[in-house]
Amino acid sequence: MKTQILLISFLLLSSFVRGEQRATITVDVAHPGAKISRHIYGHFAEHLGRCIYDGFWIDSALNVEKHGRIRMDIVKALKKIKVPNLRWPGGCYADEYQWRDGIGNPKKRPVTINSNWGGVTEDNSFGTHEFLELCELIGCEPYISANMGTGSPESMKDWIEYLNYVGKSALTNERTLNGHPEPYGVSFWGIGNESWGCGGDMVPEYYVNEYRRYQCYARNYSGNNLKKIASGPNIDDYKWMETCMQKIPAHMMWGISLHYYTIPTGDWGKKGSATSFDENEYFDTMKRCLYMEELLNRHEAIMNKYDPQKKVSLVVDEWGIWTDVEPGTNPGFLYQQNSMRDALVAGTTLNIFNNHSDRVRMANLAQAINVLQSLVLTNKEKMLLTPTYYIFDMYKVHQDALLLPTTIDAGNYINENESIPSLNVSASKDENGCVHVSIVNLHSTEKIHTLIDMKNEKKKVVSAKLLTSKLYNDCNTFENPSKVVPLSYGEYKVTKEGVEVQLPPLSVVVLEMK
Ligand code: AHR
Repeated sequence: MKTQILLISFLLLSSFVRGEQRATITVDVAHPGAKISRHIYGHFAEHLGRCIYDGFWIDSALNVEKHGRIRMDIVKALKKIKVPNLRWPGGCYADEYQWRDGIGNPKKRPVTINSNWGGVTEDNSFGTHEFLELCELIGCEPYISANMGTGSPESMKDWIEYLNYVGKSALTNERTLNGHPEPYGVSFWGIGNESWGCGGDMVPEYYVNEYRRYQCYARNYSGNNLKKIASGPNIDDYKWMETCMQKIPAHMMWGISLHYYTIPTGDWGKKGSATSFDENEYFDTMKRCLYMEELLNRHEAIMNKYDPQKKVSLVVDEWGIWTDVEPGTNPGFLYQQNSMRDALVAGTTLNIFNNHSDRVRMANLAQAINVLQSLVLTNKEKMLLTPTYYIFDMYKVHQDALLLPTTIDAGNYINENESIPSLNVSASKDENGCVHVSIVNLHSTEKIHTLIDMKNEKKKVVSAKLLTSKLYNDCNTFENPSKVVPLSYGEYKVTKEGVEVQLPPLSVVVLEMK
């Protein structure tokens, strides 16, 4: 490890001497803005492929540390990055999920079909109590997506009473008999998922009426205020957003969701491989990832029209890169590898969310384990942490800190006749007065010598971390799980102008200053 650091330091130091791109980032430490809600760093666990079954929830015979059937090496890894919330049970699965199938004696639970994801058998051994136990072990808040597609207001109402009511009722009695006399106090409550698609193929005018009806019975039991989240638009469906904002008053929804996935080729039929792609496809991926900025600006403009006080949160509860599945795996399981490109997508997207934290107060990467842009991949007893995982580890310093305004003066990354900004950034100040700056260099070949100008604020660098790799498609494998890992980084100097830092191509750097 030491030799690795020395080698990287030498290579980078020598480049200070040769010519390289230069950039300036200003950080306005004196004017902190909105709090960056820790819930922007949320995750998603659907009954899909090997996320729950053979992911979080494993066969008793598997020789790894377990709590019941919950896999503890995963729990420990998620605890370390301070996962603030976990969304469950879907996704599309949520709109066919009958919560009663997943409570009571596991041996008596019905066997059902997961018709959205591969038509596989669902034994319902992982249900409400198991999910809430998982959240407790991770130390995160549950975010439950209620069934609107094939459910009923009655069934949803009962689920909430079962979860949250303190007093005497048949449902609280049942909860007690199932081993949990105390109410769970679940707060984040989604009403429908992708109601414009797998969640019922509704038109927005119909959805808003249904939402209003369902939310009416989503009761606040025993002093626990539900944060009700409406199923918002797909990508750039501005009409859906407009209809929801116009027809659902702010007191009826804590938030409204937005779903946007980065598809490398832009073609859902042939999305592109997770590991085998050229520079054109890398560039296109990053261009599509940066589109999140435009989506947020335009959806927020609509929200501002109806809710200028910003009471309603924008909840990007599905985002991430979606590629073709790994060759030879079940197409319905959405298992994909995760490369340095994924890390750059994560770092860039989280910078965008941080910079929109006055409206974006929650987000959920899809999905936590073995599905889409995962944090963790498993293969029997083996487990690996992906480059994306390390971005969440490096960025956790922004959770609940105050956003600091930034500007960037930098060159572009030009590919053929298109260009995107080489750098993106976000900065925050935490309760101890520490300033954290996270910078992403998307350029595939140029290192960028960057001055961080904090005006008259004099700060010392306390630590710096770097995640980079030679190739955008480098990844961690079960044979070599540590190819892309963060290193502590020394290529910066404090000058009278500010902090000068060298940003290698394809890199994410997080600096801590005090
Ligand atoms: O995350 C995978 C799927 O993508 C979810 O189930 C659905 O909501 C979305 O279309």
